[in-house]
Amino acid sequence: MHKRTLIQTAVAAALLAAGGLALAQDNTFKIGLILPMTGQQATTGRQIEAAARLYMAQNGDTVAGKKIQLIVKDDTSLPDVTRRLAQELVVNDKVNVLAGFGITPSAMATAPIATQSKTPQVVMAAATSAITEASPYIVRTSFTLPQVSVALADWAPKNGIKKVVTLVTDYGPGIDAEKFFASRLQFNGGQVTEALRVPLRNPDFAPFLQKVRDAKPDALFVFVPSGAGAAVMKQFLERGMDKAGIKLIATGDVTDDDQLNDMGDGALGVVTSHHYSAAHPSATNKKFVEAFTKANKNLRPNFMAVGGYDGMRVIYEALKKTGGKGDGDALLAAMKGQIFESPRGPVFIDAQTRDIVQNVYLRKVEKKDAQLYNVEFDVIKDVKDPGKTK
Ligand code: DHB
Repeated sequence: MHKRTLIQTAVAAALLAAGGLALAQDNTFKIGLILPMTGQQATTGRQIEAAARLYMAQNGDTVAGKKIQLIVKDDTSLPDVTRRLAQELVVNDKVNVLAGFGITPSAMATAPIATQSKTPQVVMAAATSAITEASPYIVRTSFTLPQVSVALADWAPKNGIKKVVTLVTDYGPGIDAEKFFASRLQFNGGQVTEALRVPLRNPDFAPFLQKVRDAKPDALFVFVPSGAGAAVMKQFLERGMDKAGIKLIATGDVTDDDQLNDMGDGALGVVTSHHYSAAHPSATNKKFVEAFTKANKNLRPNFMAVGGYDGMRVIYEALKKTGGKGDGDALLAAMKGQIFESPRGPVFIDAQTRDIVQNVYLRKVEKKDAQLYNVEFDVIKDVKDPGKTK
């Protein structure tokens, strides 16, 4: 009898605990944030995590009655690891949203999991055009390389640059940048005389730059992913390419706000095109940069941070709109069509493509208050990704 009571009590306690757990789960909204926190792409992870935490600090961790739980996982930027982590987050942690994705292969590796589990996948960093076509559950808050490269190919021939050598990292975003820059330049009467590609892992730019120096084009157009820009700039200057009359033009990934201030005065005057500069002169951005810098020991936010910050906004607003329902399809529907003012300027999540529509800025590296910044001097408004095949 005594034993039976004990067992009954134990069972009752277990049930109670399970029930309590279920209740806790019902009231929790989980965001699985998969990022490269170590390795070659670690600055991307650091910037996005800091931005996501800032967004939560500013907007609270309770939305539509749900407690937001951010689960950060380090994929070391290896797509096999990303895939395994995404699987675990969906199956074991039962996350409501998958987010992050520092590089294209990581975003692509997760797409089938998002589709099968009907989990929205918010891509905050990776920027190959085709990513949003890999799953109907993908929404992007970063940018695409075609979006920013075309603007530079319009600017260049009007500014005396006709013959260009391109140098890109040899994977999705680099190939997008190379292709869209070249075809637009040609359309505008210019020409890419040589297209060089460097490997993603442990790139050595020196032999490629030597080739460019010998070829003597009007300019060298570069795309490398966030984190690799400083090395390109250093080797470009060390080889005296600027003094040999070769201009450096690039997507803003090269004059990355995470590294720009340490690149030295040799970077002054470099023209780039991109969707975000820490120097973007809006009240919303000034507030963002100030809060981010203060919360992160003076770290300057870069375009990755903004992708993460806006991604959190898209998730929060979707949860509000669905009245706290964690259902994947409802959330996805509420993410589509969002229009808001980002620190980068006005943005729009195209309901058809689930990709971001945004301004693209031409910028020049200048000194402001003894610091190097990408200072915007022209804008192309509301640019859709030109890389979409449908
Ligand atoms: C990608 C990664 C980057 O760091 C970047 O600046 C642009 C694109 C990517 O892998 O898609």
